[in-house]
Amino acid sequence: FNEDPFTQKRLRAGDETPVPRSLSARAQLYERVFPQYRQPVEVGVFSLDSERAFFNDSRQLRYYVDPGNKPNFNLRDGYRDRFIKRDDGVKERLDHLLRWIVANRAKLRSTHASSSPCTLGVDFVTWRGHLTKLLTTPYETQEGWLLAVSKFGGTLYVSEVETEVARVNRENRTERHEEMMYWGYKFEQYICADDANGVPDRGGVVNTNEAFCTVVQTRLAEHKLLFSGEVDCRDKDPRAPPAPACYVELKTSAEICTPKQRSNFHRYKLLKWWAQSFLPGVPRVVAGFRDHDGVVVSVETFHISKISQLIKNEYNCWKPTVCMNFCSDFLSFVKSVVKEDNPRLVYLFAWEPHRDVTYTVHRDSQYTFLPDWYIKEMAI
Ligand code: A3P
Ligand code: MG
Ligand code: MG
Repeated sequence: FNEDPFTQKRLRAGDETPVPRSLSARAQLYERVFPQYRQPVEVGVFSLDSERAFFNDSRQLRYYVDPGNKPNFNLRDGYRDRFIKRDDGVKERLDHLLRWIVANRAKLRSTHASSSPCTLGVDFVTWRGHLTKLLTTPYETQEGWLLAVSKFGGTLYVSEVETEVARVNRENRTERHEEMMYWGYKFEQYICADDANGVPDRGGVVNTNEAFCTVVQTRLAEHKLLFSGEVDCRDKDPRAPPAPACYVELKTSAEICTPKQRSNFHRYKLLKWWAQSFLPGVPRVVAGFRDHDGVVVSVETFHISKISQLIKNEYNCWKPTVCMNFCSDFLSFVKSVVKEDNPRLVYLFAWEPHRDVTYTVHRDSQYTFLPDWYIKEMAI
């Protein structure tokens, strides 16, 4: 394939540089050598408490307690009476991460020797979850996405906007779906202790406002990235390697009974699990396989570095190199489009399955997402 993924180039007025209008997401276009991805370095952490209040520390970090191979956890326990659900209608955008940046900018700047006060020394600031969506885009056939981008102090900030389809789905979830979303958090409670020497409290309240987040810095090809992602727990051994290598991602999935189910697990689930943990350098996923009634019947550890081997026998399967090359080319696309440094100006990048990535431009609109407090703080 020699086809250029950047199509329909046009010229900006008074500028000889061609500005691409769209980017293809066809997987075949990205089957080339794996791009450089520097080992992610943790530059900080933060916590969100039971009321979703921000703390510039690790108070919500939990510790992994090995559940054994056949734990018989009942994930339905507590759904009615011991569950406090975060209001997912509240759009937090990049706010928590921006608060972390404001609280830690001296630390960030010292490592970059930047001149201007707004300058962070990175090309992109975003959530890990947004990058996960980019990585899986060449293989996604169900859900599109919208990503808002503003340039401020030379850095491109990327913040997701909920699509109309996603909003309608969120507002019309079935009771079964609502309950099944709880199961993943209940699994975490069965496995995690609040202290390195503690035990899990399976009788406690599950509160999905609580979160512990790592902030990492890395580089994908020529793009310097600063992003944050929620971390489920860490290895309790004090001799474990430093973060992010000591972190453990927890997942639940339906038990696998047939070859077709195994194939689907490899094709769809492992792609999402790999992308989410590979990005911040989290080395392993501990998965609980549950039956139809929400009982965990087995637990298995997946090492992120071994997942590409696991899927190699799957016909026409996803490839890590396609995910990373698409992400890198999308970030290049964003850089070539977003030239004006202005936090009130938003470029809205849109993608739908079987379509190219396109964008629209919005000045002082509902899409503006960098808050005034952040712009004021960074100008000092
Ligand atoms: P599972 O991972 O076991 O499915 P995470 O795994 O990223 O730490 O997320 C913890 C749980 O949050 C998930 O458990 C799932 O129940 C819920 N969750 C995560 N992402 C979600 C999404 N996009 N939509 C609905 N629920 C989600
Ligand atoms: Mg999590
Ligand atoms: Mg998890």
